[in-house]
Amino acid sequence: MTTPVQDLDLQEIDVLGLDRAEAVAAFEAAQEQHWLARVPLGYAVSRHEDVMAVLRDRRFHSALSVLPQISGVEGMVGERQQRSILAMEGPEHTRLRRLASPAFTPRSTDRLRPFMRQVIDELVDGVADQGRCDLVADVCEPYPIPIICELLGAPKADWKLFSDWATDIFRIFNNDVANDRTRIEAAMAQLDDYVRAMVDARRSRPADDLLSDLIAAEEEGDRLTTDELVMMTEAVLMAGTDTTRNQLACSVALLTGHPDQWERLGAEPDLAAGAVEETMRHLGAVRATARVAAEDIEYRDVLFPAGTLVVTSLATGNFDRDGWDDPHRFDITRPVTGASHLTLGSGTHYCLGASLARAELQEALPLLARRMPDLGLDGPIEWKPPTVGIWGPSRLPLCFRPRTEG
Ligand code: HEM
Repeated sequence: MTTPVQDLDLQEIDVLGLDRAEAVAAFEAAQEQHWLARVPLGYAVSRHEDVMAVLRDRRFHSALSVLPQISGVEGMVGERQQRSILAMEGPEHTRLRRLASPAFTPRSTDRLRPFMRQVIDELVDGVADQGRCDLVADVCEPYPIPIICELLGAPKADWKLFSDWATDIFRIFNNDVANDRTRIEAAMAQLDDYVRAMVDARRSRPADDLLSDLIAAEEEGDRLTTDELVMMTEAVLMAGTDTTRNQLACSVALLTGHPDQWERLGAEPDLAAGAVEETMRHLGAVRATARVAAEDIEYRDVLFPAGTLVVTSLATGNFDRDGWDDPHRFDITRPVTGASHLTLGSGTHYCLGASLARAELQEALPLLARRMPDLGLDGPIEWKPPTVGIWGPSRLPLCFRPRTEG
């Protein structure tokens, strides 16, 4: 028999008031009673299987399409959010993914690996002699912008522009869009003009970069329009910058508690892929995402009426006993087989930049471990508030053995 979700006796979890570990613990406790829990604005699934099922079910649409109404945001910001690939659904979304995906293969991101190593090496050069740093400000914040610019084909002289636009546009995720709207809109308009000029230039003179690949992308005569190219560029900048920075900081923060594994990673760079997957599983920069039922949906004998908001707790799903043996044990040598973690999402909106994100982290982590031996904390880690959508440390003070050789 199908029960309407509102009639179920479910535990209530105030996710917005809980930090990461508290939220995971609260969801795990709630699972004893039911696979669903009640959260502000709707319901939540937290088991690996249910998170995957909801994210793969095309009848559940991205909550970004309704977020502007929920948060009362109108005008350009709301409109942009709704036009973003993250908010698109159905054939429109499938078409865009089909055209854009070939530009995001591991092969195309692998060509950036030497550049990634160079960027991270230079950032560590800046702190290696002192033997201490705030990893967030000194390494994580600056790391992704040059890579995204290199990927897109923007020159070094414009890195700062991209960095400032990204900072302002990310205010969208800070739950205060109404107040930040003017700055967000100004940044969006400037980025828009810049990318349009870039598209024009690449159309007449293609280069070896993502934008040229996206312009050339064609399937059965179908191509991306200039508006779509601009939207995709913005999506890459927005989805690919703050996520990577925060994930790198989360991963290193976690490893400060496991000095033996840090040391091994520095000595055995082949462990990088496992270290990236395990740190993303334990402490992902994206803790949850949300969907809205686009129609009445029956799932596991529960009816979700059209319009119901369902939060998918990626963080809790990553500790599912069915997915991992002794899931709370942190071990970078864990075989990378079996269940995949949910930090990059799943299903139709699965992270388009997953290969790039993995490559950036796989290059950064072993290099940091090698160049920052005897790592320890140089003060308490300060964390962003749990309400921030893309989350991690705001300050990560580290000390390590300073560089002695030339
Ligand atoms: C460690 C870093 C990253 C994390 C944790 C991450 C996480 C995610 C997650 C969870 C989603 C799905 C959101 C949802 O289902 O609602 C997503 C989508 C997306 N990501 Fe990432 N991401 C990362 C890096 C990147 C990078 C480097 C890029 C760009 C080059 C990127 C581009 C995208 C795009 C375009 C989407 C939307 C895909 C779609 O809607 O079809 N991400 N990401």
